Amino acid sequence: MSEAKGLATLPQKNVLVKVEDGIAWVTLNRPAKRNAINPGIVYEMNQVLDVLEYEEDAKVIVITGSGDSFSAGMDLKEYFREPDAGNPVDRERLNRANSGWQWRRLMYYPKPTIAMVNGWCFGGAFQFLCACDLAVTADDSTFGLSEINWGIIPAGIVTKSVSMAVNQRKSMYYIMTGDTFDGKEAEAIGLVNFSVPRAQMVDKVKTIAKKLMEKNPHVLRACKVGYHYVRDMTMDMAAEYLASKIDATKFRDPEQGAVKGMSQFLDDKSYRPGLGAYKRD
Ligand code: COA
Repeated sequence: MSEAKGLATLPQKNVLVKVEDGIAWVTLNRPAKRNAINPGIVYEMNQVLDVLEYEEDAKVIVITGSGDSFSAGMDLKEYFREPDAGNPVDRERLNRANSGWQWRRLMYYPKPTIAMVNGWCFGGAFQFLCACDLAVTADDSTFGLSEINWGIIPAGIVTKSVSMAVNQRKSMYYIMTGDTFDGKEAEAIGLVNFSVPRAQMVDKVKTIAKKLMEKNPHVLRACKVGYHYVRDMTMDMAAEYLASKIDATKFRDPEQGAVKGMSQFLDDKSYRPGLGAYKRD
């Protein structure tokens, strides 16, 4: 368990954070409200991302929820009704802070992120689910793009996020009907990587996190951020960007992984890159 100063500054109220064996477990903590996203969660999550960026013991970030819910989406009262009736400057600031943690920062976060969807997952929860690099759920979780059921469109960035992760027919079906679906369907449509029996969910996340921790973190960061950037580029632009990035990554890599990897394979013959990561110091 980490005792780092940064962690000690966190309120640990609307969001609980503990770091164990390299994993930062970030738990949305409003179980009585099914972890609906209120301003408290919004501002605390921004703080959490700030702190974890510099927390050396936190190698992989896992986002999950307290109780039987991942998140029931945006809090209809505290995120919509009350701020909508209040000061427009506060309203705008809240929107900005929310897109800040839910996708602007999370998509490009320098450390690997995994969403562990442990139950209800509705509406606005799809934003940070999709912004995480990877996702694991339990077979009996329930997902829904419920916006249509209460008379709004999936805004924020939900429609865009879903369209990037899931094919058109499935996206349109769930956006237009608001039908719920379970973990296995979430896996089948590509919204999560794995859906497993509930009892296996945490171990599945730990196994993936362990695999990620064996990789060079500097290169891992460039891989994930680069993935998002090249999606919006032409083939030529992407080729140029990636050519520059591979040079920059080698140049800046503090552990000079590419040199080590090549030498361990070609000279020492001590590993096979096709089958696993080079040995880090
Ligand atoms: N916003 C505000 N409050 C919410 C909420 C949300 N998105 N989701 C749940 N809550 C609150 C309920 O109002 C209730 O509060 P109360 O105890 O003060 O009355 C509490 O959380 C428990 O909700 P309840 O509906 O009794 O729980 P449940 O386990 O029977 O059902 C859900 C869980 C998630 C199916 C149901 O709460 C629901 O449909 N929530 C809305 C989901 C949604 O459409 N989200 C999209 C928002 S973008």
